[in-house]
Amino acid sequence: MTIAGWRVSPPTIPPDKAAIPREDLEYFPRVREGEHPLFWEFPAYLDNPNCRWLQALKEMYAMPIVFPASLSPEAGLMLHGLIRNIKPRVIVEIGTFCSVSTHWMASALAENGGNGVIHAFDDFGPIHKGPWRDVEMLTGRLDFVKDRLAKAGLLDRVVFHPGDSPTELVKAREELARAGGVQFAFIDGDHTVGGALQDLWAVEPVLNTGGYAMLHDTYPEQCGGHEGPRHILDHLATVGAGLYESCEFYLSPLNYGMGLLRRIG
Ligand SMILES: C[S@@+](CC[C@H](N)C(=O)[O-])C[C@H]1O[C@@H](n2cnc3c(N)ncnc32)[C@H](O)[C@@H]1O
Repeated sequence: MTIAGWRVSPPTIPPDKAAIPREDLEYFPRVREGEHPLFWEFPAYLDNPNCRWLQALKEMYAMPIVFPASLSPEAGLMLHGLIRNIKPRVIVEIGTFCSVSTHWMASALAENGGNGVIHAFDDFGPIHKGPWRDVEMLTGRLDFVKDRLAKAGLLDRVVFHPGDSPTELVKAREELARAGGVQFAFIDGDHTVGGALQDLWAVEPVLNTGGYAMLHDTYPEQCGGHEGPRHILDHLATVGAGLYESCEFYLSPLNYGMGLLRRIG
C-alpha cells in the first residue's frame, strides 16, 4: 500500500522473525564485576524535609536490613508513579518484607486522595542473614512494619493479613470482592515457581479486568535464581485463567526486573 505523502517506506519483515534470548539482547543492563552496590542510595532529589513519608523512607533506606530484598528507590519511585497514574482503589501486596514497597504504594494512594487501601500479605516471619545482608530480624517484624508506617503517616492505608499468602488471600477473597475487587496486585512473595503461581492464582479471581498485576524479580540470572516470576511471564497464556497483556521493565541499580500484566479478559 502506498499513500501520497508518506516519507518512510515500510520496514522489511525478516522471514525468520523470532524473539531474541535475553543474553543476546543489544541492551540489557547488568552489574559489572566490582560494581555491585552494597546498600540502597536514597537520591538527594527525594530528600524533602517537608514530606513525612519521604523522610520515613529515607530513614528506612539507611537500614542495612532493607538491602537488597526491598525495592530500590528507583524501582519504588516507578511503582509510586504507576499507582498515581492508575489510581487503584484496592491494592493487594504479596510480600511486604520491611514495608519499603508498601510505603511507595501507600504514599501514592494518600497523594491520590480518596479511600484507597492496600491489603498486605506476608508471613512476617524472621529475616535471616543472606547474600548481601549481614543483619537479621528474628522477631517482631509486623510490629516493626506497623511502627514504620505510622511514622510515615500511612498506617491507616494498610490492612494486614499475616500468614501464608495464598491461604490468607483465599480467606480474604470475599472481603476483596465486596470492596469491588482488586485493581492492582503487587506480587513479590514466594519466588519459587510453585509459590509465585499460588499467589497469582489466589488473587486472580478477584483481579478486575482492566486491572494490573506486577511481578518483581523477573530476571533469575540477575536476582539469585528466583524462577517463579519469570515462569509466570513466560507461560502467561497457560498459567493464567484470565487473558493478559504484559511488558517488562529494567530496574536500577540492580536489574532484578519487573513484569507488568494487564488483565484484559
Ligand atoms: C522479597 S521480600 C518482599 C520485598 C518487599 N516487597 C519490598 O520491596 O520492600 C519477600 C517477602 O515475602 C514473604 N513471603 C515469602 N513466602 C511467603 C508466603 N508463602 N506467605 C507469606 N509471605 C511470604 C517473605 O517473608 C518476605 O517478607
